[in-house]
Formats: sequence, C-alpha cells, structure tokens
Amino acid sequence: KRIALVTGGFTGESVVSLKSAAVVETQIDRNRYDVYKIIVEKSHWYYTGQGGQKHTVDLNDFSVLVNKEKITFDGVFNILHGSPGEDGKLAGYFDMVGIPYTTCDPLTSAITMNKGYTKAIIQDIEGLHVAKSLQLFKNTPQNTQRVIDELSLPYFVKPNNGGSSIGMSKVKSEGEVQEALDKAFAEDNQVLIEEFVSGREFSIGMYKVDDDVIVLPATEIVSSKEFFDFEAKYTAGVTEEITPGRMTEEEVSRVKAVAEKVYLKLNCKGAVRMDYFLEQNTGKIFFIEINTVPGQTETSLISQQVRAIGKTVKEFYTEIIEEMWK
Ligand code: DAL
Ligand code: MG
Repeated sequence: KRIALVTGGFTGESVVSLKSAAVVETQIDRNRYDVYKIIVEKSHWYYTGQGGQKHTVDLNDFSVLVNKEKITFDGVFNILHGSPGEDGKLAGYFDMVGIPYTTCDPLTSAITMNKGYTKAIIQDIEGLHVAKSLQLFKNTPQNTQRVIDELSLPYFVKPNNGGSSIGMSKVKSEGEVQEALDKAFAEDNQVLIEEFVSGREFSIGMYKVDDDVIVLPATEIVSSKEFFDFEAKYTAGVTEEITPGRMTEEEVSRVKAVAEKVYLKLNCKGAVRMDYFLEQNTGKIFFIEINTVPGQTETSLISQQVRAIGKTVKEFYTEIIEEMWK
C-alpha cells in the first residue's frame, strides 16, 4: 500500500516535525508500504523525487505526478506537529478528499490542540485533576491585572494552541507577568496561565488497536532546567528520561485507568501522549495536556515507551497504520 508521510507545517514545531518524519521514514516497514514524504509549507505542498526535483501536490485529490505517473495514496501517516497537522485542519482536508489518516478526527484534533478547552472537557474524569488556570484572549484589556488578582504565583504562561514549550514561561514574580504574556501572545491569540503544581512530571503514550486502548509505560522527566522547555525536549542528555518512570504499583494502575478514560472521552485515534504531574505529598494526577501528534524524533518519549514493552518501533508504526483502515 502507498502511504503519504505528511510533515512540515506552519509553526515553530515544523523543525521537530521534519526530524520526526526522518525517524518514521527509516523505521516504517518498507516491505509493507511504499512511502512518499510530503512536505506541507504555507504556499507549497510537495514531494521531493529522486533527483531532488519537487513535485507539487494536486490539492484536488492529494495526488502527485511523478514521471508522468499520477500517484495517489491509500493513507496518510500524519507526523505534522502543530498547525495544520495537529489542530484538525489537515484532518478536515483529508476527510474531504476521502483519504484515511493515522491521527484524530478534526473535532478531537481541534479541541486537544487547545489546552484550555481540553481541560474543560476532561476535568470531571474521576481521579484526574487540573491546575487552576485562566484563559486569556488577545487585545483584551486588564489581562495582566486579572492574572495577578486571580492566580497564585508561581505560574506557567503558555500559548493555548502551542507545542514544544515554544513561547512558554515560568513566572515567579508579578513583575514578570507582562513580559511572559507578550511572549505567549506573540505565538497565539489565546494564552493559558496555569498555577504551578509541585510534583514530578511524566508523560504517557496510548494508542488503539481494534477496540483496545493500549497504555504504554509512562516516562518520568527529570529536567535540570526550570521546566521541560524546547532545549530540554530536543537536546539529548539535557533531560533525564526514565522509562518506566518511578511510580508505585498503585500509581501505575491509577494513571493507566485515567489515561484510558482520557483517550476514550476525547475520542482519540492513533498514538497520543498525555503529559501530567504527580503532585508531591498527595500523589494526585494533574493533567497538563494531550498531544495527538506526539514527537517521534530520536529523543522522543513514545519510542522509548514502545521499546520498554518489548516491541519495535517498526511494529508499533505498522499497528498505527493498519488501524486507520479498520
Ligand atoms: N509537541 C511535541 C511534538 C510533542 O508533544 O511531542
Ligand atoms: Mg506537551
């Protein structure tokens, strides 16, 4: 079968997407699938052929013409982080042209890309907690004062539809609020300010095969930096990542149950990754966010988790791909 590996994108995460695509490209089972890497840029979607020649995608049916042969696709492996791959825009387009894809549908993608709206939906799941937060919109007066009045320091300020910690700050004093808001608003029209939860950070991958949600072992993130920022995420060695993370058996089963509920409640598809904190002293699970196109770079967490259950990344990709045709 012929697969389009769709990468690139319109945000700062496009560099991450290209790295993820390079990994998927080498790990995907070539005996089963013919793979064409399609780069999506704002003004040009293309496939680069053997001689380095760029073949423009025909957006009417998502085909490319290579050596006079029209190439169409049986499915899309979506590895485009951020917009338009993770926020539902591409999913909507592929629905329109009738091509199956490995990730969530347009509605789920759009909701999960927005950290504030996602929290609103999942916060009543039993055993799951959300940090107190405020969702702000650009060009609304009094934003800074509201943050200072309504939340307790320290807090995280993040673009609501962002990823990879781009535009994110940890604010420890009122004097830093304005600068943090400006930085986040430079990335997005909506900003989420979330109170700091003291605890340990984890990330857990899940995916669906037939009717079963497979919950992978969680990875514990021990960052030497103030938080798990862009550099900590993508520079090997900056962060210690422990898979499976250090949790008691009771915590493991509690987290697994909650992760599965999140997956089902949001109607997810394919591989997703939930980031969370285990609060110090109480052990409560605090939801951070869910990534519906999680990174697949060399340093990424999902592949570590897949290997931890004795599976190869290649087998995992095959499961994800086959699932889209069911
Ligand atoms: N947003 C990045 C790609 C991740 O969650 O892995
Ligand atoms: Mg994240």
